[in-house]
Amino acid sequence: MIRIKNLWKRYGNLDVLKGLELEVKQGEILVILGRSGVGKSVLLKHIIGIEKPDQGSIEVSGVMISELKKNDLYQAVKNMGMLFQGSALFDSMTIEENTAFYLQQHGDPVTGKPFPASTIRQKVEEALSMVGLEGVEKKMPSDLSGGMRKRAGLARLIAYRPSILLYDEPTTGLDPITAQQINELIVKTQNELKGTSIVVTHDIHSALFIADRLALHQDGKIAHLAEPKEFMKIDNPIIQFMKKTYTSREPL
Ligand SMILES: Nc1ncnc2c1ncn2[C@@H]1O[C@H](COP(=O)(O)OP(=O)(O)OP(=O)(O)O)[C@@H](O)[C@H]1O
Ligand SMILES: [Mg+2]
Repeated sequence: MIRIKNLWKRYGNLDVLKGLELEVKQGEILVILGRSGVGKSVLLKHIIGIEKPDQGSIEVSGVMISELKKNDLYQAVKNMGMLFQGSALFDSMTIEENTAFYLQQHGDPVTGKPFPASTIRQKVEEALSMVGLEGVEKKMPSDLSGGMRKRAGLARLIAYRPSILLYDEPTTGLDPITAQQINELIVKTQNELKGTSIVVTHDIHSALFIADRLALHQDGKIAHLAEPKEFMKIDNPIIQFMKKTYTSREPL
């Protein structure tokens, strides 16, 4: 369970989060939609502890993430993983090293013990194959296409198998077939890990495929949150616009 209360964040003179409230249930996939620049990535960064709120609290599985610092914070966020919007691969590491990064850094998220090298190799291979990236282990991120880098970022996240998974735009820039494979992978990973996932996306097809619940981030807050059927009926211009783009593709 993730519980966010009265979250405020300002950069310079721009109020991005303005008293945002959100509860994410254990075991669900929550999809967050919202216009560009509204603060969706900022919100995910607060949940994983990279950004500190000006005001308000973030509680994850009973721990007040927003009050922790340094090693306490590091320990508390070990069971979380994030796919960053720009993939955020390490340029100087091969794809194999990138994919192994959290496994090596944190060890087993359940026991905290280091993994043997052979286990790491096997997990990396499995994760790369799950995202359709076999054979690129020795390549550098700069040798891959944008879509391949995105999938490598995803492999790094699912290889680690954290119990809370944050995905920032997992299907953006991918072709429709790969995007659908990623959607299926997100659902499959969720079912296997029995974790909690938050997915930020602009892709309404992806959103409706994966979501248990949908949220609209607007004006610094979560303006609406509901199960897909109810959500799509909400009288809000952004939601109705998305609905129109969705149904207009149906008769094809
Ligand atoms: N570290 C920072 N310093 C200053 N401003 C920031 C910082 N991080 C985010 N912002 C600002 O906060 C606002 C929200 O950014 P954010 O990246 O969360 O948007 P977003 O909803 O994820 O948009 P998109 O859909 O385009 O990814 C933007 O105006 C951005 O410029
Ligand atoms: Mg973003």
